[in-house]
Amino acid sequence: MIIAIDGPAASGKGTLARKIAKDMGIPYLDTGSLYRAVGLLTIRRGGSPAEPSDATAAANALNINDFTPDDLRSEEAGNAASKVAAIPGVRAALLAYQRTFAAQPGGAVMDGRDIGTVVCPDASAKIFVTASLEVRVQRRIKELREKGESVNEQRVWDDMAARDARDSDRSVAPLKPADDAFLLDTSAMNADEALASAKAFIVSKQKT
Ligand code: CDP
Repeated sequence: MIIAIDGPAASGKGTLARKIAKDMGIPYLDTGSLYRAVGLLTIRRGGSPAEPSDATAAANALNINDFTPDDLRSEEAGNAASKVAAIPGVRAALLAYQRTFAAQPGGAVMDGRDIGTVVCPDASAKIFVTASLEVRVQRRIKELREKGESVNEQRVWDDMAARDARDSDRSVAPLKPADDAFLLDTSAMNADEALASAKAFIVSKQKT
């Protein structure tokens, strides 16, 4: 079974995807971490994340094990990721890895922006997770404070709005729900409520 979970930053898709994977015993891939690693590698090599030749060369040289989870979750990585993610050569370089992961015998739960539309258009269940910009900004601020980082609230808001615009407006694999995706708005839900709603949808797909 392949479960595709897409949505904007801090919508709750990562938490939901991890919970579904654990609950159902299915391998999990956070595809955002691949784009984050490419963004950081581009900077480490002295390049610019918005420059197609720099970012594509980094994507082709990527070894995901060179990065720690803390490196990958930084705001620097998130912002660089949404720049390299708009470059077709970067997306092409990461596509084969993602499809190989999806094809393993135990199935896959994958979260990102284009899993249901581009990477796994034949996924068994597609969920598009959203929440209002205000709720997502508050979640990101809480996450940063819990990590002990100092937070400029206006900057978090501006960065997230800019990231939404870059992800939705790009010409290659823009952020949008697949036609057959279940839309899950988590603005007023906690993580367990989101899991219950998603599981009910997945079970309904298993029966068809
Ligand atoms: O956790 P958060 O939603 O903030 O970010 P993420 O899922 O780690 O993704 C970081 C960036 O990578 C996003 O802003 C997208 O631009 C890009 N991305 C993408 O284009 N396609 C994916 N399948 C996953 C991430």
